[in-house]
Amino acid sequence: MYQAINNPVNYGGLELKNRIIFAPTTFGLSDEEYFEKIRKIAAGGCAMIIVGDVPVGKSTFEKSLFDKKGFAYYQKLARIVHQENCRICAQLHQSDSNMLAMLKYVPGVLSKKFTMQQLRTLLNNEVSPYITKMSQHKIHKIIQGFGEAAVLAVKAGFDMVQVHGDRICGSFSSVIFNHRTDEYGGNARNRARFATEAVQAIRKRLPDLPIDYKLAVRQENPHYGNAGVLESELGIFIPLLEDAGVTSFHVTLANHSSLEDTIPPANHPYFKEQGCFLKFCDEVRNYTDKPITGVGGLNQPDFIEEQLANGRITCAAMSRQLLADPEWPDKVKNRQITEIHRCVRCNKKCLGSLQQHQGTHCIYEKNLS
Ligand SMILES: Cc1cc2nc3c(=O)[nH]c(=O)nc-3n(C[C@H](O)[C@H](O)[C@H](O)COP(=O)(O)O)c2cc1C
Repeated sequence: MYQAINNPVNYGGLELKNRIIFAPTTFGLSDEEYFEKIRKIAAGGCAMIIVGDVPVGKSTFEKSLFDKKGFAYYQKLARIVHQENCRICAQLHQSDSNMLAMLKYVPGVLSKKFTMQQLRTLLNNEVSPYITKMSQHKIHKIIQGFGEAAVLAVKAGFDMVQVHGDRICGSFSSVIFNHRTDEYGGNARNRARFATEAVQAIRKRLPDLPIDYKLAVRQENPHYGNAGVLESELGIFIPLLEDAGVTSFHVTLANHSSLEDTIPPANHPYFKEQGCFLKFCDEVRNYTDKPITGVGGLNQPDFIEEQLANGRITCAAMSRQLLADPEWPDKVKNRQITEIHRCVRCNKKCLGSLQQHQGTHCIYEKNLS
């Protein structure tokens, strides 16, 4: 029973004890609360935790590997996860928001002139000019930052890195945001250049490090996702990413539409089914033999077992289900299926609470109003 879920795997060079990965998840909690949540998730039996949004340079708003305090924070996090016999991966990212534009809107947010959702729309409108006009000097600096961040991540104790293929890599990939006329814009090969050079910058410094790529896929008919890689361009992007040094792919829907599309609730009009993004994994499989992780509404043990057993995916990543019950992997291993707190994908206290600056929680947590 659940042999495939519990089968160890070599994931792009890294040994994982089973096939369950905690998907990158931002928490917005105090350090101590965050460490405790991550400890519980690691202790619950998943094979690896991907730490969301680790910046590739100094940062005002996020914990950065590039300063002493931030480095110590990540070191402690890696220690906590390793103590529970779990692997840890740093999701390296660079925001595609223009910080100057962001500052312009701060007074409006503080005076409640507009909501966070409206702020998101305003910032989204700034992405295209930001990407299109970015100097090559700045591009090269950010790309080098991916290499430097990976070196620091390994020093801090991370076992592997994931390049966040949404955010800046995803915006460079997409014609919707990238209107450049130099070698970083235009045809698909050129739009893939930023992401491939970011991967190469890591590979050059760390020849043996497993590098996962969060491959954000954009679909038309119906249109979902604005950044990332168009389904019809996967055949160009994937071989380039592989040649650059990617050792596995974490496949999902592209961002920059609504967050409720990439983190779909159970009543989503289009992505409401279990494993709603696995069809993108099938497409990615046409172009690579590397391990593929699926994510998105995965929480039924039998369904996940089947997808792993038939080779559709190599690993299953989950965010909300492990927020709802960090012990999902151990309960499945010990056949305590009826004891699992099933995520109902209501998005109330995870995404909803995060958006209201109250940190990521779950309706199953006690003492929540
Ligand atoms: C509260 C919350 C925060 C998230 N933060 C991140 C993040 O920092 N980086 C990222 O790539 N994805 C992030 N995600 C998306 C998840 O990694 C995942 O792709 C999505 O939730 C769908 O998987 P699920 O159905 O298992 O929750 C977040 C999701 C949630 C619910």
